[in-house]
Amino acid sequence: MHIADILSSVPLDAQARAPLFQQLGAGIRAAILDGAIAPGMRLPPTRTLCTLLGVSRQTVLSAYEQLTAEGYLEGTVGRGTFVAAHLPGRTQAPTQPARAVRGLSARGRAFAASMRGVRHHDQPARAFRASMPALELFPFDVWNRLEARRRRHPDHHFGYGDPAGYLPLRERLCEYLGAARGVRCTPEQVIITSGSQQALYVLAVTTLDEGDEVWLESPGYQGACAPLRAAGASIRTVPVAEDGLDLAWAERRLPPARLVFTTPSHHLPLGVTMSLPRRLELLAWARRHRAWIVEDDYDSEYRYNGPPLPSLQSLDHAGCVIYVGTLSKVLFPGLRLGYLVVPPGLAEDIARAKAVIDRHSPIVPQMALADFIAQGHFARHIRRTRAAYAERRAVLLRELDRHVPDLLRCGPSDAGLDLCTHFRIPLDEADVVRRCAAAGIELRGLAYYRNPNAVKACDVPPGLLLGFSSVPPDAIRDAVPRLAGALADAAAAVEGARRLR
Ligand SMILES: Cc1ncc(COP(=O)(O)O)c(C=O)c1O
Repeated sequence: MHIADILSSVPLDAQARAPLFQQLGAGIRAAILDGAIAPGMRLPPTRTLCTLLGVSRQTVLSAYEQLTAEGYLEGTVGRGTFVAAHLPGRTQAPTQPARAVRGLSARGRAFAASMRGVRHHDQPARAFRASMPALELFPFDVWNRLEARRRRHPDHHFGYGDPAGYLPLRERLCEYLGAARGVRCTPEQVIITSGSQQALYVLAVTTLDEGDEVWLESPGYQGACAPLRAAGASIRTVPVAEDGLDLAWAERRLPPARLVFTTPSHHLPLGVTMSLPRRLELLAWARRHRAWIVEDDYDSEYRYNGPPLPSLQSLDHAGCVIYVGTLSKVLFPGLRLGYLVVPPGLAEDIARAKAVIDRHSPIVPQMALADFIAQGHFARHIRRTRAAYAERRAVLLRELDRHVPDLLRCGPSDAGLDLCTHFRIPLDEADVVRRCAAAGIELRGLAYYRNPNAVKACDVPPGLLLGFSSVPPDAIRDAVPRLAGALADAAAAVEGARRLR
């Protein structure tokens, strides 16, 4: 690979704690130590690299200076910057390429690559972290008591259990899903997983063969794309219209899919809901093509204007829909509990496949959750958080209307934990995100949700996803003026560049 390609693929995160020059320095250092760039090689000029990476020239200069001070690079004025001929901690270049040294299989590399864009957070949530519930509203005292009681009285469930999960929890979830989401199932169809992420992985490997066609909403949830890609599926991206996944577009242009992944209740990041006619069309299509529909119903508890549309699964009479749920939004993500509802007849095999990964999900949190639901805490917590999030959403909408009515247009806002916004004037999304990070605001540009293989029809206008659920009202009021400042500066930069042309 050319050195510029290697360096331009160094992952940089403007919102990470480490400054960009340190991240870039770490990437170059790793490439040198891996042997991906060899002693004596010439690095791209700082001006070239800063353009390639979309960072300031000072970031590249500081990274080069740091590595020169550490002895990895050496420079001569006028000649350029080179990888040092004699490297600290390494006397000779590796004889094998870095990949062979690390020994990952092609599948291993595909797995690792599929989650490359997915970030975790190592800082408390700030305005406007996306898709994050309010941890301060969760009744940890109650939860701790329930877990502690189960630990004080261990029974036979503390041995190896059913791979499908703790039966009383599956019964409680079955009742809840029937009442709240219209899901029609028996406890035997419910499989407890470690978050919906594991559910999606298990589905990818149990329903798809290498090369099978999969349709994915794009933009969309990276966590869904990753396991499907890692399973070797042939991924086709489908645009999302105001009434959900554009089925007619997909039917016209794509080979029939074996599996369609969709978030009909609330699309991430656009916030749209799939209309009833579209749901019925999709079900009819899946029946005709004997395809699976994977319905990810991750945050349907949060709807602020009236009751949610029942799940797609509730309309399915042909057993095409596999329903995926999570406790990450309604309780908290670190709990790592989710579930699958699969058509009868498939449950045992899918549960056995999940057992290959981890035998079964940890038992004590499952028991505590069953108690939490049975004792009414679950319903109470949903009511409480729904009211709190409704207030936060209203405050955010009001503040945006007050401070940035000319710059941001809000998408649908009647559900979920986030608000999708689009720029009313041409702005550079990456520049806005960088300016917001510098102003202490955490958010994602919509480009984060773009599928790497997305076709042009899946492009959406640039914008920002503003998470409101984990941000108390005062923090929203405090952050919106800073967001407005960052947007105004980005607008001034665009205007300045236009005048220069
Ligand atoms: C669309 C979507 N589905 C599911 C999840 C939850 O994933 P998990 O259950 O693995 O935490 C998220 C979390 O952000 C999401 O955005």
